[in-house]
Amino acid sequence: MRIALIGSGYVGLVSAACFAELGHEVTSVDNDAAKIAALERGEVPIHEHFLPELLKRHHRKRLNFSTSIMESVRASEVVFITVGTPQSETGEADLSFVEAVANEIASAIDNSHQTRGKSLAVRGRRGHALGSLCESNTLMESDNSKGAKQPGLREQRYTIRYPFAADAEMLELQSGNRVSGVTSDLSAGGCFVCAGHPLEVGARVRGTLTHNGQKVAMLAVVRVVKARFGMGLEFLDLDANSHATLLAWIGALQKSRLIDGE
Ligand SMILES: NC(=O)c1ccc[n+]([C@@H]2O[C@H](COP(=O)([O-])OP(=O)(O)OC[C@H]3O[C@@H](n4cnc5c(N)ncnc54)[C@H](O)[C@@H]3O)[C@@H](O)[C@H]2O)c1
Repeated sequence: MRIALIGSGYVGLVSAACFAELGHEVTSVDNDAAKIAALERGEVPIHEHFLPELLKRHHRKRLNFSTSIMESVRASEVVFITVGTPQSETGEADLSFVEAVANEIASAIDNSHQTRGKSLAVRGRRGHALGSLCESNTLMESDNSKGAKQPGLREQRYTIRYPFAADAEMLELQSGNRVSGVTSDLSAGGCFVCAGHPLEVGARVRGTLTHNGQKVAMLAVVRVVKARFGMGLEFLDLDANSHATLLAWIGALQKSRLIDGE
């Protein structure tokens, strides 16, 4: 798999080396030109056991360095954002680097990319930062049994929206396939999920969403599937109990301030 990691710091560089060791083709990106130049010269900017060996083994083979987000994202199938999130003056994580990178990625990606925001399962701005990136990339091929596009589907059917990330574990009831994903947003009627393995439109799934350790289970029907990567799940065929459970779950999360209300 072709992977780009945006940010070549402790997390990004070590992950890049490990992905290359696992056999992936990796581009480690950073906007610090001096850091990239040093890495190109074979210098290792951080101390991590076995990292120098891995970098030496894979550099210019399966592992390359770049300062260009645009080129690296376009050449990759999966992109990780691994830039810093320093503490802001208010004590919260400063997400401005993440947001800047998310915007650059959004302008570089095409239909073949998926975006996942594993660290976004917290309330507030974070959900919006990658939520909008997910949206820009995963919407909106509706009922593509006919390949027809319905750009207005979201507006028509998703009246109450909660853009935030929850881990989604799904079981396709007919095939028994299990698929993991991350929601980009929830609504009272359903949710959209970014996942690496698309399901069939019309498939019935049993899903569990987890947000900050809080779980909700439900039955759903896949209504929207992005070609190739990612999928949209629309929980319109919820039975009455599941629908009520989702609403109660969202309400409880708001009450405990684990997510924002609208
Ligand atoms: N270091 C850890 O042990 C650790 C552990 C768990 C989670 N994390 C989280 O992982 C994330 C990354 O942490 P880190 O320690 O690797 O940070 P880091 O500061 O070591 O590296 C971040 C890199 O991102 C680069 N960068 C910043 N803005 C950029 C942009 N616009 N385009 C390209 N590159 C850009 C910086 O130049 C830097 O090299 C943070 O959210 C951190 O909280 C870190």
